[in-house]
Order: sequence, then C-alpha cells, then structure tokens
Amino acid sequence: MADYTIKVRRYQPESGDPAYWEEFNVELDPSLSVLDGLLQAKDRDDGSLAVRCSCRAAICGSCGMKINGKSGLGCQTQIGEAQEAADKKASAVGGESEGNVIVIEPMGNQPVIKDLVTDMESTHWTKFRRVTPWLLPHGEPPEREYIVEPESMVDITQSMACIQCGACVSSCLSMEADPLFIGPAALAKAYRFVGDPRDAETLERLTDLAKDPHGIYDCTHCFSCVDACPKGVAPMDQIMRLRRKAGEHGIEDPNSGHAHEMAFVNIIEKKGTLDESLLLQESFAPGVLGKLMPSKRAIKEMIGSLPTAIRGIKTGKMRSLPKLIPGVHHKLPGGAQDDVKAIYKRAEESNIEFNLYIKGEEGDQEAAVEERLEPAAAPGAEEASNG
Ligand code: SF4
Ligand code: SF4
Ligand code: FES
Repeated sequence: MADYTIKVRRYQPESGDPAYWEEFNVELDPSLSVLDGLLQAKDRDDGSLAVRCSCRAAICGSCGMKINGKSGLGCQTQIGEAQEAADKKASAVGGESEGNVIVIEPMGNQPVIKDLVTDMESTHWTKFRRVTPWLLPHGEPPEREYIVEPESMVDITQSMACIQCGACVSSCLSMEADPLFIGPAALAKAYRFVGDPRDAETLERLTDLAKDPHGIYDCTHCFSCVDACPKGVAPMDQIMRLRRKAGEHGIEDPNSGHAHEMAFVNIIEKKGTLDESLLLQESFAPGVLGKLMPSKRAIKEMIGSLPTAIRGIKTGKMRSLPKLIPGVHHKLPGGAQDDVKAIYKRAEESNIEFNLYIKGEEGDQEAAVEERLEPAAAPGAEEASNG
C-alpha cells in the first residue's frame, strides 16, 4: 500500500459555482488504477464526486479522463505510474522529484456535465453518426450472411478495435482550433467502412469526407490521438488512409488539401528538401506562368494568406523569412538529389504500408518489409525461386 494525493478538477452545476480544484488523499497498492483511487475518494470522502465507469477493465470506454494532462482511461492507468509521471513532470520544471499530486481533469474538447463526466453526445456521438457508421451494401442482401475473405478484413481490424472512449477527441489539437472538425474517432470509424469490401459506397463516403471543410484535410498530423488511444487504433493513421484513398480516386477538395500534400511530395522529389517559397503556389495552383510568375489562382490565394503569414512572422512561428523568397533555396550537394529520386522510385515500386498493429511485432514487420523488397533488390533471386 502507498499514499497518494489526487487533485481533481470539480464542477458541480447545481451549486452555481465555477469549476474548482480539490485534493483527496487515497491509500492504494501502486498496481491499482487511478479510477480505483477516485472511487476510494468517492466512497470515503465525498459521495458527490462524479466519475463515469463500468467495466474497470479497459473494455467499455466509459472512464476517459485527463491524467497529468494526458488523455486516457482511468481504469487502465496504474496509480503508481501516474505518480511517477507527476514526479517526472514536476522535476522537469525544477520542482520536487517525488510526492507530487496526481492531477485529474475531465476530457478536453467536450462540455463538462459534472466533475469528470463530459457530454459525449454533443461532440463525440454526433460526429460519429455524421460518418454513417454502418454498412451500405448495394443489391439484395444474401439469404444468409455476407461471405468475405478473412484477408480482406485485415486492413480494417485496427479501426474495429475502437471502444469509443473519446480519449483521442479529448487530445485532438485540430478540434481545439476548429470544434467542427469531424475528429479522430469518427474518422477512424469512417475508415472501418471505407475499407470494408462489403460496402458499396466507398466513393461517396470519400467524396463527402474530402469535400467537407472540417473533414479529412482538417487533421494537422500531430500524433496526439495516436498517443492517447488506449486500444492502438492510431486514428491519425486511419485518416491518412482515407486521404490516400481519396487521392487514388482523384477527388478534388475545396481546401486544396490533396494538392497541398502533393505539393510536398513533388517539391521534395524535384529539389530534395522543401523549398518553402513554392509551397503555397504549388498547393493552390501547381506550375508557373512564364518564368517565375505564379498562376492567377495561386496569386489570389497567396494574397489571401498574407494575414496568416504576417501573424506567423510576428509570433515567431515563421522564422526563416529568406526561405520564402523564390530562388534562395539551396540545392542538395553532389548526387544527393539522385538518391532522393531513387528513394521515391523504390517506394512507388514497393508500395509499402507500415502497419505495426496488423503485423503485431516490430521484428515481424521488418521481416515482412524485407520480404517485399527482396524481389526488387535481387530480381535474379526471384527468377531462381520461380524456376
Ligand atoms: S493527428 Fe489529426 S486527428 Fe489526431 S489529434 Fe492530431 S489533428 Fe487531431
Ligand atoms: S480511437 Fe482510440 S481513443 Fe479514440 S475513441 Fe476509439 S479507442 Fe478511444
Ligand atoms: S471503466 Fe470501462 S474502460 Fe474504464
């Protein structure tokens, strides 16, 4: 047994008071969970402390919360580990290296109903329904079940592991800036149906999600949801798969999201590193008129982006102003540019997708990649084995 102090962000709407912090002392084995600590405080100190939970085994998805600022499940986080994290955080800013309080807050990006209980309906479930989370097959249903090859379902296994806890939504940085963003959980669910061979509305789904200004191109690729997800769903990876499929179908989006991605790919293939002076122009209207003159649409979009650029320079986010001047970008030395092109060629030929979840072990993953690269690396070997 050990003693811990948990500091809980409380909000009791019936009191009419604003939110406040309250500390509770609990006594638990370090291997027990933060949720166990909260339930002990509720049992011994204050029965009005509101926390949502059910299975206490990381299955039902009820107990999402922020622990020391990180979104996750209360029942899956050992209180001993939470204490270590609190101590590490405090000593990183010059505080005490042990005995710090464990800070517990309700999930982010969701209105708080009471204490640690958030309103998941208004954010999570509404967006979840937005992506039509059920199969849309065409034609008459079969007399019995749909038969599919097990292999064809492997691609969506990861997105099927979601328990709808909302931890990814809580941690999403894009959602903080744009509350209308469909968000990581709903988009991961969207991929579950886009990737399902029984669904017949793949193109419609992808077009809808690509053209929505708060859809797949609203994600800033920050990895926060990957870090928060207790089930390894890696929602960001599912969003990238949706983007890749939308690109394969040639779906144009009004935000130029796909064109922006292609701008990165094309500039680096051509120049080896990112020439930032070309990025806006290539994103909005690839190519130049005459020698250096950007196309009309690119000029219009660049002028529209000026206030953002000025804000970026003022706040120090955009630090290397000379990089934005055309022609200043340095070329790679020697044959390095050819090496970059060779990497592109190899990636296109091999079409490798990294998915640790499906492969299970990192070693397996490497072996699988090597296996796929082998024929390209040694064509003779392939012929020999076929012979
Ligand atoms: S990677 Fe995208 S979806 Fe995930 S938290 Fe960041 S912005 Fe949100
Ligand atoms: S993707 Fe992960 S974090 Fe998001 S709701 Fe599903 S299980 Fe929770
Ligand atoms: S109580 Fe069910 S996931 Fe935590």
